[in-house]
Amino acid sequence: MKLLPPLFALAIASASFAQPSPPPRPPSPGQTGGPIAGLTPTEMAEFRDGLDDFRQVETVDGGLGPIFNDTSCIVCHNSGGAGGASARTVTRFGRTTKGVFDPLTARGGSLLQARAIDPAFREVVPREANTIARRVATPLFGAGLIEAIPDATLLALAAAPKPDGVRGRAALINDVTTGTQRVGRFGWKNQQATLLAFAADAYVNEMGVTNRFFPEENAPNGNTALLARADQILDPEDEVNPATDKADIDRAATFMRLLAPPSRNTVTADVLAGERIFESLNCTACHTPALTTGPSPIAMLSQKRVALYSDLLLHDMGKLGDGIVQGPAGARDMRTAPLWGLSARPVYLHDGRTNSLDAAIKAHDGEAAASRNRYGKLRPVQQQQLVAFLRSL
Ligand code: HEC
Ligand code: HEC
Repeated sequence: MKLLPPLFALAIASASFAQPSPPPRPPSPGQTGGPIAGLTPTEMAEFRDGLDDFRQVETVDGGLGPIFNDTSCIVCHNSGGAGGASARTVTRFGRTTKGVFDPLTARGGSLLQARAIDPAFREVVPREANTIARRVATPLFGAGLIEAIPDATLLALAAAPKPDGVRGRAALINDVTTGTQRVGRFGWKNQQATLLAFAADAYVNEMGVTNRFFPEENAPNGNTALLARADQILDPEDEVNPATDKADIDRAATFMRLLAPPSRNTVTADVLAGERIFESLNCTACHTPALTTGPSPIAMLSQKRVALYSDLLLHDMGKLGDGIVQGPAGARDMRTAPLWGLSARPVYLHDGRTNSLDAAIKAHDGEAAASRNRYGKLRPVQQQQLVAFLRSL
């Protein structure tokens, strides 16, 4: 075989996993994409260290695959800065028979890993799947504040009476990092309660990097014989560095925890009018304007107001549900999407189906039907004011 000149070979190798070039440095403290303002020097150093990890491109030798969706966190989380959302979706599948959902675990469900280190290992959506949903990447700005909201707050919100027949359920999940039952608040289905658990989940399920909480690789469409051939690297691949006592999952979790909440845009008269309309339509029955964190060892996360515009509860959204049953979330249940940072989002709703806020509101159903109908009856100028308010968040 004729040997390629080294530079040419390198170009091919890097082209196969194209990356957006990372910004030279994160924005200043307090700005969207930067660290929270007021961190200690140690926390700042941890933020920067975690950002490196978040940007790091995983390689086959470093544990990428055998099956995966992408090669770094930042490829899917970058809109408005490192840690943002994106228009990137992943695929979930399962089989629904007479209203009962089967995640087809034995066939590699419910999350599809669409890529592989060798095409021979690639997963496909199996023939028996009749429920297929896409999920768009969510933003991580202010995630540490969301993590620090006490379970008790969310349980109390779930128990409180609400207008329009709105219910709302706390998602009780088992947190793999502590082995305790917690109230889930991350992901479209509230599938995780802590950033460390989500990082560990993302490492293994999006990149194929096994870690101390998830030491086993995903078998391509459940084929363990194929996995045995494909998987050449000793698990867990994400090792704890004895010098720092931290693995990549810990560093990525810290980066997310210390990310500043999204900053608000200019508040105009229209924005203020839109805010009053938002309240009068009872959007606030689910999109709770603000919650408060509990005590935290990180001073800037302790007892802080969090203007997230979400109750972090699961709601029956009728035909807006994605059909996937995941943990305590039923087929039609979705987490109230936090509305802060909407202006930095390229697309809306769990499948990223629209870039129009008007269309996103009109797609609300189920428990949100009364609110949606009231929105439909507004005069166009009022609808525009409401949208101006949403864009200011
Ligand atoms: C292939 C694209 C992709 C990659 C790579 C990826 N993510 Fe995500 N991320 C997503 C999608 C899609 C969601 C929404 C998933 C859902 O709810 O089902 C998400 C959601 C999250 C959330 C939940 C945030 C919230 O409030 O809902 C966290 C935390 C997260 N990702 C962290 C990470 C970390 C850390 C990495 C790197 C280890 C990573 N992600 C890599 C696509 C990706
Ligand atoms: C019953 C609870 C509920 C009510 C009431 C409600 N929402 Fe929502 N909202 C949700 C849920 C759940 C989602 C996530 C839906 C999805 O994508 O599956 C959401 C998503 C959104 C989104 C898209 C956010 C994103 O991240 O993509 C916008 C914008 C929004 N709501 C605005 C409104 C407005 C404006 C009102 C009042 C007219 C309203 N909502 C009333 C529960 C509610």
